[in-house]
Amino acid sequence: MAETPRPDPKRDPHEDLRIAESQISAILTIAADAIISLDQRFRITLFNEGATAVFGYTPDEIIGHPLERLIPERFRAIHPSHVADFDAASVAARKMGERQEIFALRKDGTEFAAEASIAKHQVGGKKIYMVVLRDVTERKRTEAALALANTELEKRIAARTRDLEAEIRRREETQAALIQSQRMEAFGQLTGGVAHDFNNLLTIVTGNLELLATEIRDESASTYLKRATDAADMGAALTKRLLTFARRRRLTPQVVDVNELVLGLTEMLKRSLGEPITLTTILAGKLWRTRADPSELENAILNLALNARDAMPSGGQLVIETRNVSTSETAGPPVLAAGDYVLVCATDTGEGMAPDVLEKAFEPFFTTKEQGRGTGLGLSTIYGFAEQSGGHATITSAPSMGTTVSLYLPRADAAGEPVPAAGPSEPVPLSENAETVLVVEDNPDVRELTLQRVEGLGYVVQEAENGPDAIRFLKANEHVDLVLSDIMMMGGMSGYDLARWIKTEMPHIRVVLTTGYAAEEAQQDPAGLVDAPILYKPYARADLATTLHTALHASASPV
Ligand SMILES: Nc1ncnc2c1ncn2[C@@H]1O[C@H](COP(=O)(O)OP(=O)(O)OP(=O)(O)O)[C@@H](O)[C@H]1O
Ligand SMILES: [Mg+2]
Repeated sequence: MAETPRPDPKRDPHEDLRIAESQISAILTIAADAIISLDQRFRITLFNEGATAVFGYTPDEIIGHPLERLIPERFRAIHPSHVADFDAASVAARKMGERQEIFALRKDGTEFAAEASIAKHQVGGKKIYMVVLRDVTERKRTEAALALANTELEKRIAARTRDLEAEIRRREETQAALIQSQRMEAFGQLTGGVAHDFNNLLTIVTGNLELLATEIRDESASTYLKRATDAADMGAALTKRLLTFARRRRLTPQVVDVNELVLGLTEMLKRSLGEPITLTTILAGKLWRTRADPSELENAILNLALNARDAMPSGGQLVIETRNVSTSETAGPPVLAAGDYVLVCATDTGEGMAPDVLEKAFEPFFTTKEQGRGTGLGLSTIYGFAEQSGGHATITSAPSMGTTVSLYLPRADAAGEPVPAAGPSEPVPLSENAETVLVVEDNPDVRELTLQRVEGLGYVVQEAENGPDAIRFLKANEHVDLVLSDIMMMGGMSGYDLARWIKTEMPHIRVVLTTGYAAEEAQQDPAGLVDAPILYKPYARADLATTLHTALHASASPV
């Protein structure tokens, strides 16, 4: 700002005043901002054209009125204290933007955001206030729109970056998986060729040994012959595994219910794992069936359990899980064709694998176990079996983080694939009269699975979540022949309690109890009143079938 020129004593002071007046009047006319003057009682004494444009009042309408008119109702109460603050302050003026933004009121009653400067001065002992006010509504709107556009843009950039990163990762994974599968393919070719020739040779050796056996009577010669035959048999077993890896074994795929297969194996698995390892199964309800060679699948699961045992010398946990998985271009192992698969995973809490071990684990003859303990063919046969079945196998593992081996097996009951009504072929007693079984279980997954298994045996199934729920169901006069209930249930009523209630209230209904606890740990029926048969989880299909059948056909009520 230029300094006010000092009065020149030679000049006419009236003329200076006229010049100043006309300058001020021009400023008031051309200023786009509202310029308002107030007397010391805050009455409006000057209202320029800018003010008319901003507020909508003509000077005639507003001059002489209190400033209050231009302040929204909700700020009127606080306004005097702002004025008092400014009056008390030593500064003579406050410039725009120095104070927080304010809100002003137009003639039409609408509010708008504004910025204001204020100056006070004293003339002849009276205070005069000058206010310059600017409507910043438009600027605020633009700022807000800009901020929104900016955050939108940032969000879009972040999302795009994430997509790109995911895509890069995906490509790297696909590349690595492809290289791995090509390597396995090459190994397969090589191993397959050798194994095939070897098998022919072994067939000749065994055949001739058999012929020789019919000729030889001499006892010591028979011993030599036996040793040779045993060695040839071992060789044959080895070549069989090699051929499996090379996908040249003749497999006999069948439609398999993997849950039943796993349940049928649990006893044997527990025995092979030994005491310090706990085995848990998490089996999906409504699991699709797969088409695979059941005995090879059993072998695979057994081999996984043995690997887990070796990785947990001082104990741990092995979890075998089944699940339905639909893979697509972007979900699931990159080399696996998109489609529906039954997934079987074995997860242990063992020592895990270092990256260099992980990379080679599927290769035939790769083992980190001491001589005589491992042949290094376990995982390679599993790999070959999964591939030949139209599926895939993967390992996730890190040192001291445990290991998960996943087997993807193709879904069998997808469109067009006929599914046999019954599960595995072993003969089990099925329902004779389509009796009704009420399944009482509080874990929804286990309940779903149990319902499916009981239904698979030819029974009509009903379900209840807990004891009180079951009693309500039975009291509603629903026809039930047998109640299959878990012992440990939430909700304060155990399977024993339920069994006792049935014994007194509805003695014609048979009861079978199940429990996940070992016999010794299962809380005994405190009153000793219930002698219902107990199925210990996990139980095989045959056990379930026999127990239900026996309970229903025993002459006296078993409860
Ligand atoms: N669950 C696991 N935890 C940690 N390492 C494992 C696990 N499973 C396999 N491995 C590693 O992978 C190697 C190869 O396993 P694979 O089952 O093919 O052969 P093996 O167990 O050594 O011998 P075989 O199974 O023929 O008796 C193992 O020697 C071990 O180093
Ligand atoms: Mg092994």
